[in-house]
Amino acid sequence: MPKPGLEGIVVGESAICQIDETTGSLRYRGYLIEELAEHATFEEVAYLLLHEHLPSSIELQSWQAELEHAEQLPNLVRPFLQTIPSSVHLMDILRTAVSFLGMTDPDNNNPSHEANIRKATSLIAKIPLLISWAIQARHDPLPLQPLSQGSFAGNLLYLITGTIDPDKAKELEISLNLYAEHELNASTFAARVTASTLADLYGAVAVAIATLKGPLHGGANEAVAVMLQTIGEPEKAKSWIHSRLTGKERITGFGHRVLKHEDPRTTIMKRRAEGLSQKLADTRLYEMAEIIEQTMKEEKGLHPNLDFYTAVVYLLLSIPLETFTPIFVASRITGWCAHIIEQQDHNRLIRPRASYIGPSSRDFIPLHCR
Ligand SMILES: CC(C)(COP(=O)(O)OP(=O)(O)OC[C@H]1O[C@@H](n2cnc3c(N)ncnc32)[C@H](O)[C@@H]1OP(=O)(O)O)[C@@H](O)C(=O)NCCC(=O)NCCS
Repeated sequence: MPKPGLEGIVVGESAICQIDETTGSLRYRGYLIEELAEHATFEEVAYLLLHEHLPSSIELQSWQAELEHAEQLPNLVRPFLQTIPSSVHLMDILRTAVSFLGMTDPDNNNPSHEANIRKATSLIAKIPLLISWAIQARHDPLPLQPLSQGSFAGNLLYLITGTIDPDKAKELEISLNLYAEHELNASTFAARVTASTLADLYGAVAVAIATLKGPLHGGANEAVAVMLQTIGEPEKAKSWIHSRLTGKERITGFGHRVLKHEDPRTTIMKRRAEGLSQKLADTRLYEMAEIIEQTMKEEKGLHPNLDFYTAVVYLLLSIPLETFTPIFVASRITGWCAHIIEQQDHNRLIRPRASYIGPSSRDFIPLHCR
C-alpha cells in the first residue's frame, strides 16, 4: 500500500529538475541552484528550463525580444478584469485570466512542441501584466505598460509596486530563480496530469495555478507574512509559536514533503533576508524569523521551507501581500510549461489506480422502497 499523499512514489521520468533528498542538493537541467540563483538572470533560467540549455548571448537577446513582443494583453482582458469584485483573490483572477487567454489563442489546441514553446513564452511574458492589471482594476491606478527596457524582474517589480530599483529587482530575481522549478510538486504534477490528456497548455497552467493557491503549497508565502505581521515583534515570537504548537496547529513555512533536512533554496533566501535587513537597517523582522526558526527546530525538529524566508524578503521589499503567491506563479510558470511540454512530447495518459476501501457489494433498493 502506498503511503497517503503518494509520498515517496516515483511516477515517471523527467530531465528537468533533480532533487537529491540525502544531500538536499537541487539542480535545474544539471546546474546547481547555488550557481543559478545569484549568478543567472531569470530570463536565462526560464530559457534553460524551456529550451534545455543555457542561452548564448545571441539566443538570450532573441529570447528577450520574444518576451518583449509578447508583453501585451488582448483588449478583451481589461473589461473582463473590471467585472471582478474587489474581494476576489488575485490567484483566482490569474487562474481565470489564463483560461481566458487560452480562448483568444488560435493555437490553443495545438500540442506540438513548437506551438507549446510559443504559448509558454507568451504566457511567461503576460503573467506580470495580468497581475498588474488585476491590481489596477481594484485599487488605485498603477502603471499599465511594461518598461521599454530592463530585466524581467525589474519589470515585474515596477508593474506590481510602481518602483524602479535595480537592487530590489535583484532580490526579487533571486527569489524568481529559486521558485522556478521543483520537480513533481503538487501544482506541477496537476499540470502534467492535465497535459497527459492532451488538453491545452492554458488549461494545464490554469489547473496548476488553482493548485498552487493552497496554503500547504504556494499560498504559504502569503500565510507566512500574515503570521509574521500577527506576531508583530521578536519578543512575542517564541510564546506565540509555543501556544500554536500546544494547540496542535501547523506553523506555515515549515516542513516539506521531500526535504526533511535543510533546503538549499532556503539557505540562499535566508542569507538574502539577513543582508537586506542589515542594508535597510531594519532587522526586527529578520530577528523574529530567526527566533521562530530556532523554536521550530527545538520543538519539532522542522526546518523552514523556501516560503518562510521569501516572505521575509518580500515584506522587506514592501511588496503587497496579495501579490506574494502571484509572484510565485510568475516564476513557477516556467517549470510548469517545461513539464507540460516534456509530458506532451513523450505522452502517455496519466491514470493511476486506487485501492478500494468502500462497502462491499450491496443490493440496489428502488427509491419507493428505501
Ligand atoms: C509541507 C507539508 C504539507 C508537508 O506535509 P507532509 O509531508 O504531509 O508532512 P506530515 O503531515 O507527514 O508531517 C509529519 C509530522 O510533522 C508535523 N509537521 C509537518 N509540518 C508541520 C508544520 N508546518 N508545523 C507543525 N508541525 C508540522 C506533522 O504534524 C507531523 O507530526 P506528527 O507525526 O507528530 O503528526 C507540511 O509540512 C505543512 O503543512 N507545512 C506548512 C505549510 C507550508 O509551509 N507549505 C509550504 C510547503 S513548501
